[in-house]
Amino acid sequence: MEDSFLLEAHHLHKYYRTRVESLHVLKGLDLKIRTGEMIFIVGPSGSGKSTLLHILGSLDRPDEGEVILEDEILFEKSESELARLRNQEIGFIFQFHHLLPDFTALENVMMPQLIGRMKRKEVQKRAKDLLQEVGLLNRETHRPSELSGGEKQRVAVARALIHSPKIVLADEPTGNLDSASSTALYNLLLSLSRERNLTFLIVTHNEALAQKGDRILQLVDGIIQNNP
Ligand SMILES: Nc1ncnc2c1ncn2[C@@H]1O[C@H](COP(=O)(O)OP(=O)(O)OP(=O)(O)O)[C@@H](O)[C@H]1O
Ligand SMILES: [Mg+2]
Repeated sequence: MEDSFLLEAHHLHKYYRTRVESLHVLKGLDLKIRTGEMIFIVGPSGSGKSTLLHILGSLDRPDEGEVILEDEILFEKSESELARLRNQEIGFIFQFHHLLPDFTALENVMMPQLIGRMKRKEVQKRAKDLLQEVGLLNRETHRPSELSGGEKQRVAVARALIHSPKIVLADEPTGNLDSASSTALYNLLLSLSRERNLTFLIVTHNEALAQKGDRILQLVDGIIQNNP
């Protein structure tokens, strides 16, 4: 049987050019991810993990190479098509939650879909279900400043899922949390992955937690060192 992949990166190159130097960060990187996999990316600081995640999420362009999401070649698309795809098919979780300070937890989860065409009532129902799933229905009226760090990240997880994305990209989602909250967040991501067959690609410095996933990819010297 032929293997099919949800996300593929082919021969990615990325340079950063500043006034004084050209930095070759990704050097022909290849990557293949199947639906439902929970994959961790580890690597030294400055090795290009965030750069890679931004390119896979179409927030940035590679200098060479392609990213294919379910048979769609990303960088052949127009900016407006890419914006739609990013908004509907990819979920992002960052190190800092990026929640909007003047809105409640529930409104923050709803926000990505309020911009779209869905009815407010339906969006609210979905957002409540997601808050329940991340264990925060009892905090729905709290604003971000009225939530703990771990709770804010769980709201950010719920927000990333409101569109039912095909893949969730997370850049050090527990970088800001204490160890108990980190473990709780990873357990949440793991159960979401298993129960909903959701695909996660997570950058982390925490190798112990990364062991809980299906695969750990090591990004060193611009490529994945342990590609099968
Ligand atoms: N906009 C930019 N212009 C120039 N150089 C950049 C730019 N963004 C990143 N870099 C450089 O590219 C390299 C890779 O950066 P990146 O943020 O991808 O690393 P990282 O693996 O995520 O590191 P960390 O673990 O510290 O978050 C770094 O050496 C960084 O200094
Ligand atoms: Mg980074």
